[in-house]
Amino acid sequence: MKVRTIPAILSILLPLAASGKEYPMEPPLCYDSFPDESLLKADPKPVGPEWMHNAVFYQIYPQTFCDSNGDGVGDFKGIISKLDYVKSLGVDAIWINPFFESPFRDAGYDISDYYKVAPRYGTNDDARALFKAAHERGIKVLFDFVASYTSIDHPWFKASCDPTPNKYTNWYVWTDDTWFEGQENYTAMFVQGYCERNGNYLQNFFWSQPALNFGYVERDPKQKWQLPPDHPDITALREEMKNVVRFWMEMGADGFRADMAGTLVKKDPDYIKTCEVWRGIHAMLDKDFPGAFTIAEWEDSAASRGGFSSNFLHWRREYYDLWFRDKDSYFLSAGKGDITNFLGLYVRQKEESCGRNYISLTVGNHDLPRVNRWGRDRTDLELIQIFAFTMPNVPFVYYGDEIGMRQLPLKIGREGCYGTRAGDRTPMQWDRSKNLGFSTGESDKLWMPVDPAPDAPTVADEERDPGSMLNFIRGLIAFRKAHTALAANGGFFPVYAQPHAYPFVFIRASDTEKLLVVINPSAQESTASIKGVLKEQKSLIRGTDAKWDEADGTTKITIQGKSFAIYELK
Ligand code: GLC
Repeated sequence: MKVRTIPAILSILLPLAASGKEYPMEPPLCYDSFPDESLLKADPKPVGPEWMHNAVFYQIYPQTFCDSNGDGVGDFKGIISKLDYVKSLGVDAIWINPFFESPFRDAGYDISDYYKVAPRYGTNDDARALFKAAHERGIKVLFDFVASYTSIDHPWFKASCDPTPNKYTNWYVWTDDTWFEGQENYTAMFVQGYCERNGNYLQNFFWSQPALNFGYVERDPKQKWQLPPDHPDITALREEMKNVVRFWMEMGADGFRADMAGTLVKKDPDYIKTCEVWRGIHAMLDKDFPGAFTIAEWEDSAASRGGFSSNFLHWRREYYDLWFRDKDSYFLSAGKGDITNFLGLYVRQKEESCGRNYISLTVGNHDLPRVNRWGRDRTDLELIQIFAFTMPNVPFVYYGDEIGMRQLPLKIGREGCYGTRAGDRTPMQWDRSKNLGFSTGESDKLWMPVDPAPDAPTVADEERDPGSMLNFIRGLIAFRKAHTALAANGGFFPVYAQPHAYPFVFIRASDTEKLLVVINPSAQESTASIKGVLKEQKSLIRGTDAKWDEADGTTKITIQGKSFAIYELK
């Protein structure tokens, strides 16, 4: 039953969640020949701190990472106590989901005070201590920046609900008549009859998240409430948003992840004005906080025009073909997948943003069902991670994925955790003590229940096992860092990718190194038939050797089921 509900949930949520825009599918891209040797080199590096080109991030969900005071909710002191573990993974930086004051109708994405840590996580001093403790270990910290909406409990919104005009009247998108009939799209709808102000407010996601007003580019002359993006009240809001960023950067943050970054300015074709807002924030960062790293939840190369160091693509349909569906994803042993739709998206997005920013190919996050779910085994998970760490991108590891934590079949609506968003946010599994070491609190009072399975993976067990998923991930992170060709700016040359075919073969290249990667997630032995022959000598540096046959100017690479091979070409 659950297996069948997941694709349905994803198909509703994924296409629209982050940008409010439904993208047409990109035409697929197929490959079947070796590239010209003269092309094998690195991409130009985008502007940004040197550390980012080879950086690996770790995502921490503060609710469920580590609870230091036994109240059932994770907190900053808990995170601090686990920083040595985080460091041991070999990652460079962490992204922490929103930790600001909030009524928690959307797990903290509904902010009621941008300048204050939610008491359940600690205090602003604890945030300062967390930044410091992370820096002492060489770890950078990103906060989650929600610029496109607040909570209905935010004082700005309360003031804007007042029928008497005031400073905040225009800070949110309000129609000028409660009887206005109209909708924008699935994630941006009008809420009617909320307060005494005669008008409807635009929600940006849940009804409790009113859209901040960054204006409309294409305005309907009859709807006078649609303000231009350069309206003075909007300019004031934009300045305030810069202050928010400045506040956390001055406290010690190293950058941010921008939530729903493409939704700021409404009816904004090509995101011209939305990019302008973000460029303003990035100009401030460049001047006062050089070296900041920013990543956008914005599945469009427009993010690179907005000045982001990186952006996620996971809300695009082509992305589901990787491992999100349970029957015909590419990375399933059933072997019914197709990599060419994903490449159609990825290669074009990469070309559009090349030299400006990097794509991040996240394997999982708090909105996506965990990669370890029904019917997948350890090898499936490893092959997914091999892909995520050998493709050009800035990898983000979702807490717990490094030990193979499982998606749980929970049906809980707590704080907006509907559908699969509950079972992917369960407490981190540290050891075999109470609540798997997450909290000393009562088990039925935890923010989310822990995995009840007797064989639920834990950090402590996996630390002791050299062959564990945890040690596999550590090894993979170290491997990636040891190879310049695998850095985010390493060149990418697809070699073999055919519709409904396995394996997937590609070359990565820096100016000093060339690697050829063969990945076959299918359970069947598979053969790539490639035009051309390699001039270089190849030596296997990781994985299981494949069989190579070269005849009549064609190379056939045959690789056993559920395996991969990485060769150095010299
Ligand atoms: C982003 C967050 C998600 C949240 C949504 C609306 O997509 O990742 O968790 O629910 O924004 O706030």
